[in-house]
Amino acid sequence: MSIATLGRTSPVIRSGHVQLSIILRESEKSTLQTQIFDQIRTMILNGQLRGDDPLPTTRELSVQLGVSRNTAVLAYERLIAEGYIRTKPYVGTFVSPDLPDTAFLSAGETTATPPPMQVTDGSGAGEEAPHLRTHRLADPNRRRLAADFWVGRPDARTFPMKAWSQHIKARLKSAGSKLTSYSDPAGLLELRQAIAKHLAPARGVVCDPEQIIIVGGCQDGFNLVGRLLVHPGSTAVVESPCYQGAAFVLESLGAKLHPVPIDRDGLDVTQLPHVNGAVAYVTPSHQYPVGVTMSLQRRIELLSWATQYDAYIMEDDYDSDFRFVGSPLTALKGLDRNERVIYLGTFSKCMGPGLRLGYVVAPRRLVESFRRMKMLMNNGQSWLEQAAMADFMASGEFGRHLRRIRQLYRERRDALLGALHKHFGECEVYGEQAGMHLVWKLPEGFPSAEEVEAKGLAAGVGVCSLATGSALRFDKNDGADRLLMLGFVALSEKEIEDGIARLAGALKG
Ligand SMILES: Cc1ncc(COP(=O)(O)O)c(C=O)c1O
Repeated sequence: MSIATLGRTSPVIRSGHVQLSIILRESEKSTLQTQIFDQIRTMILNGQLRGDDPLPTTRELSVQLGVSRNTAVLAYERLIAEGYIRTKPYVGTFVSPDLPDTAFLSAGETTATPPPMQVTDGSGAGEEAPHLRTHRLADPNRRRLAADFWVGRPDARTFPMKAWSQHIKARLKSAGSKLTSYSDPAGLLELRQAIAKHLAPARGVVCDPEQIIIVGGCQDGFNLVGRLLVHPGSTAVVESPCYQGAAFVLESLGAKLHPVPIDRDGLDVTQLPHVNGAVAYVTPSHQYPVGVTMSLQRRIELLSWATQYDAYIMEDDYDSDFRFVGSPLTALKGLDRNERVIYLGTFSKCMGPGLRLGYVVAPRRLVESFRRMKMLMNNGQSWLEQAAMADFMASGEFGRHLRRIRQLYRERRDALLGALHKHFGECEVYGEQAGMHLVWKLPEGFPSAEEVEAKGLAAGVGVCSLATGSALRFDKNDGADRLLMLGFVALSEKEIEDGIARLAGALKG
């Protein structure tokens, strides 16, 4: 173990030089860059470092810690990307001044409330059943299109078929009674262990495997959470616009939807309702549909709101395996000291939705309720797919698969940005830094997104207005009728270039 301990436990500032107490361990699973990031972040969240406190330069830090300059630079870049620190040109690097005091809440400062109602108990009896609205799944007719920029669908050509069939076959050989008996409704322990191991470095979510419930994709997770925490008349905060799949589940359970607008920094937390016991559904890493990332300040304020109003936050981290700029952002759950966040992840995007596999990371006090509810819903997920997925992850193939497709999808995103630029000039684009789709704000003088979609379809090119892309709008004047969603991961670079050329031809025509 090589330990580089510098200064004392709090930052020491000497004649303009700052030393941070950072301990690096080579034996740690996380990289040196991640260890530096984590420790500085913790100092900020604990209040050891305050707004505007100076930090060492990357050169000083690399010398102090005995790491390469690049390692220090990458750690700082990630802290800057997540809003913890900022640089002032020619002056230095400082802790971000904008972090609210609530950033410094210590763990345990929580309103320890018992789990809200377990099931709807008939108190809504007599109320009119909510109209059952459902989200849009991919339209099979679009298979005939020359190029379909449908959102959220992975490329069938990238599915790791060979490895997957080997794992399935191997598991079948030794299945014993696994296929003929029930098992833990919370899911296969090996898979939950593999997910916990993946989430810590990939998403900054540190949890025990016992906190993880395997579900049939996020959609099943929305139902699981909703059935426990929502009852007729309760408040469900949703982003405006938001993902239909989640909003309609909450609505079907009788929740009153409370839309909160989003802007470039994500959810406008000043418009959160002042009511107790709400559930808030959010997509902080890559807002669906618009693609913006929630700022650190807003994340902290959202967590603080949840603590104050005894609310739970449903964090849908659906496509966060793909981040093309800098290191992966820490999930909201990674900041959650008071266990107000229920984290939802899915294998639908990085593997395929046909697997119907996802996971919920539950706050400790809700774990047993979730396990029981999952049992009531469907006794848990299929054993075979869980076992194959556990093996695929444990063997290291999942990590390699992710790295491979992340690179491929980055190239496709670049091809899309390049093609838009070539045919339409400077384009105002959102959400291109991560995920599987980006959003193009159509310029003045263009038809609306719905009209562009219709013209595209007539020319054999599929693009999505928000409604087609399963997004729910609450405000007709939100400007979103000018937003066009373009999924880029299921098409080759050539298909992307041809598709955008065709769309340009159709619009000019
Ligand atoms: C925002 C969002 N969340 C979650 C999902 C994934 O759903 P599932 O995991 O149920 O396949 C989707 C699918 O398109 C989505 O767009």
